[in-house]
Amino acid sequence: MCSLILLITSQNSPLSQAFTYHPSPTHKHITSPTYTSHRMTANVIDGKAIAATIRAELTNKLSSLPSDIKSRPGLAVMLVGSRKDSQTYVRMKQKACADCGMESFLEEYPNGEEVTEDTLLTKIQEWNQDDKVHGILVQLPLPKHISEEKILREVDPKKDVDGLHPANTAKLFSTSTHAGAVKLNWKDFTSIPFHIPCTPQGCIELLDRINDGKGIDIEGKNAVVVGRSNLVGMPVAMLLLHRNATITIVHSRTKNIESILQQADIVVAAVGRANMVQASWLKPGCIVIDVGINSVDAPDTKRGYKLVGDVNYAEAKEVCEWITPVPGGVGPMTIAMLLRNTVNSWERATGQKDQ
Ligand code: GUN
Repeated sequence: MCSLILLITSQNSPLSQAFTYHPSPTHKHITSPTYTSHRMTANVIDGKAIAATIRAELTNKLSSLPSDIKSRPGLAVMLVGSRKDSQTYVRMKQKACADCGMESFLEEYPNGEEVTEDTLLTKIQEWNQDDKVHGILVQLPLPKHISEEKILREVDPKKDVDGLHPANTAKLFSTSTHAGAVKLNWKDFTSIPFHIPCTPQGCIELLDRINDGKGIDIEGKNAVVVGRSNLVGMPVAMLLLHRNATITIVHSRTKNIESILQQADIVVAAVGRANMVQASWLKPGCIVIDVGINSVDAPDTKRGYKLVGDVNYAEAKEVCEWITPVPGGVGPMTIAMLLRNTVNSWERATGQKDQ
C-alpha cells in the first residue's frame, strides 16, 4: 500500500522526471520501487542568510532614529538555572539585540533550584510596568519546581514577544471565519496585532522567502507537522492552516507516520529526535523544514559532538526539493523573529503602529 502511494505521488511530483521506476517483471504486487541514478539534490534553504537580511532591515530601521530618542526597543530576558544550552541561547539573543541597536536587560538566577515562583513573578510584574521594556522572554525550560504556566501567564500579553501567553495563543488558534470577524493578513506577520511564537513564525517566513524571494504557495498544500509542542508543533500547524494548507499533526501515538509523511508537500519536523525522519518517508519533491537541534556524539570532531536535525539530512536532500540544514536553517530565524516581535511591540507601545 505504501509503495503504491509513493508511486502515485512521485508521478505528480516535480522530481518525477529524475526518477525511473522499475517494477519487478516477475511480481504482480509492487513491493518497493527502485530508483536509478540522476537523483536531484535539494536546494538548501539558507536560514542564516535570510535571518541576516531580516536583521539588517531592523538595524536599518533603528539606525535612522534620532540619536536623542527617549525610547529604543528593549527586550528583557529571564534565565533561571545553569543549563549550558539556555545560557548560549540567551547570550545570542542579547548580542542580537545589541547588534541591531536595541536595549536588552538580563535577570539571571543561576541557583535555579533555590529560586521561588514569587521572586520570578515579582520581576515580571516590574518589567510589565517598565516603559523601557517592550518585550519579555522567559527562557525555557524552567526548573521543575516552578510552574511554567504560572510564570508565562504573568507576562503582559502586549510584551509577550515569545507568543506563549494564553491570550496570544487563543488568538492564534482562532480561525476568525465567523461573520463580522476582523480579517487578518497572514501574509504579513508584522500586521498581526498580537504576538506569534518566534520559531513557528520563522518557519513560515522561510517558506515565503525561498526561491529567490518569490516563496512557495502554501495554499492547498498538504502540510505534515511532526511533534505537538506548545513552542513549535501546535503554533506552526495553526500558521500553516491560516495560510490555507491542509494540516496533519503526527506525534508519538500516531500510527503509520511514514505513510502520512509520504503524502506531505511540506514537512515541518519539530520532535527533538536526532535523524528520526528517513528519506524513504518523504514524498519526492517535498519541502522539509527541520526545527530539531540535537547534539550527537562525533568523536572525530574537535568538540566531540555535532548538531543534527530531526531529519536524516544527507539522505533526505536527495529526495526533497527544498530543505533546511541544521545548524543554519531554522535556528537563526528564531532570533530574527524575536527581534522583529520586539520592534513591533515597541512600535505599538510608542504609537508608531496601530494596536
Ligand atoms: N527554549 C527553547 N526555545 C525557546 C523559545 O523559543 N522561547 C523560550 N522562551 N524558550 C525556549
